[in-house]
Amino acid sequence: MSIYEELESNVRSYCRSFPVSFNRAKMSKMYADDGREYIDFFNGAGALDYGHNNDYIKKRIIEYIESDGISHALDLHTRVKGEFLTTFRNLILKPRGLDYKVMFCGPTGTNSVEAALKLSRKVTGRTGIFALSGSFHGMTLGSLSITSGKVPRAGAGIPLTGVTFIPHPHSHPELDTIAYMEELMTDEYSGVEKPAAVFIETVQAEGGVIVLSDKFIRDLRDLCDRQGVLLVVDDIQVGCGRTGKFCSFEQAGIIPDMVTLSKSISGYGLPMALLLLKPEHDIWTPAEHNGTFRGNQMAFVGAKAALEYREEHRLEEKTLKDEALVRKFVTERLLPMDKNLQYRGKGLIHGVDFGRVEIEDAAGLVGKECFLNGLVIERAGRGDCVLKIMPALTIEEDELIKGLEIIEEAMKKVLMGNK
Ligand SMILES: Cc1ncc(COP(=O)(O)O)c(C=O)c1O
Repeated sequence: MSIYEELESNVRSYCRSFPVSFNRAKMSKMYADDGREYIDFFNGAGALDYGHNNDYIKKRIIEYIESDGISHALDLHTRVKGEFLTTFRNLILKPRGLDYKVMFCGPTGTNSVEAALKLSRKVTGRTGIFALSGSFHGMTLGSLSITSGKVPRAGAGIPLTGVTFIPHPHSHPELDTIAYMEELMTDEYSGVEKPAAVFIETVQAEGGVIVLSDKFIRDLRDLCDRQGVLLVVDDIQVGCGRTGKFCSFEQAGIIPDMVTLSKSISGYGLPMALLLLKPEHDIWTPAEHNGTFRGNQMAFVGAKAALEYREEHRLEEKTLKDEALVRKFVTERLLPMDKNLQYRGKGLIHGVDFGRVEIEDAAGLVGKECFLNGLVIERAGRGDCVLKIMPALTIEEDELIKGLEIIEEAMKKVLMGNK
């Protein structure tokens, strides 16, 4: 029995899909104790967009630690926090005309979702929240209340209330979702109170790479404006450039009232989470939403370096080029293998959906085969039936192609018996 089976709780999850011990990683490669090398399409579930141990970012963090830079400071002013805020304002907010205040939340994504929930309620004086079916917003009780999956919700142990789930337009194209929401908000007999906010992911990543159209996002912005309801974009997984633009809602041309950011914001896989909020909504009183780990100084150093790296390495252009490569590969080489396959993607997050394929747990079998052949790749969506292609934004083209070819071979084996 391994130390993990002996000691670590049954709650462990990803390690069950990739049952080796990793000890080293560089950019898009991970190495196991037995020396095996893996291409990483899992990308720390979105936390490693700049690759593992990116030298540009690593050098700055090492220099900072070696200089005895302050390592823990709650929300005290520190040189590196000030430098991060200045860089974030100059490289991200200003060029996009975004007038946001920045709130540092506890270290993980769910902390910024909790802050957004509290603040939406405080600003509007209402309690209800609208969220879309298929959504994933985190595992603490507030975030879990707007997460739709039955299994994670069951873990709450208490009723999760205050949320109305709206059918996702992807699953219900026949429904005018915007009109439906407006009716719920305005019809005195709908039985639903007008909500404080609507929370969306522009691409549901854990939900199986389900992409909202730019038109839907714009129409939702208009609806929220008409009804005085806040619009919150959870950009924890697909922000920071994953869809091409830094903010996933940029292409739609809207400005949300609040934006949650985490995962790759620190640039180095270090815990860090932010809430962006409009200045007029900044009605927090000091310490009203607090936490010991709101100022990971190494993360500030990494985050500043990462924002500079993005610009210097033109990551936005690279992501759009890689998007075209993946789209062409999936369309021309993967989809023809089975007419029941479905495919969705944007930027550098793509999902091959095996949900309608007749082989039981086809995505699971393909994922396993990929791992045996040196590719770490996650599954997502209902029944884990979507293979999620989400490499680092820095991945080299030959590694990207190699990873896609491993998927192709695995799919041939599972779907066509190696034809
Ligand atoms: C869209 C979204 N929101 C919130 C979270 C929760 O973030 P964390 O796991 O860091 O708490 C995740 C995590 O996958 C996510 O994808």
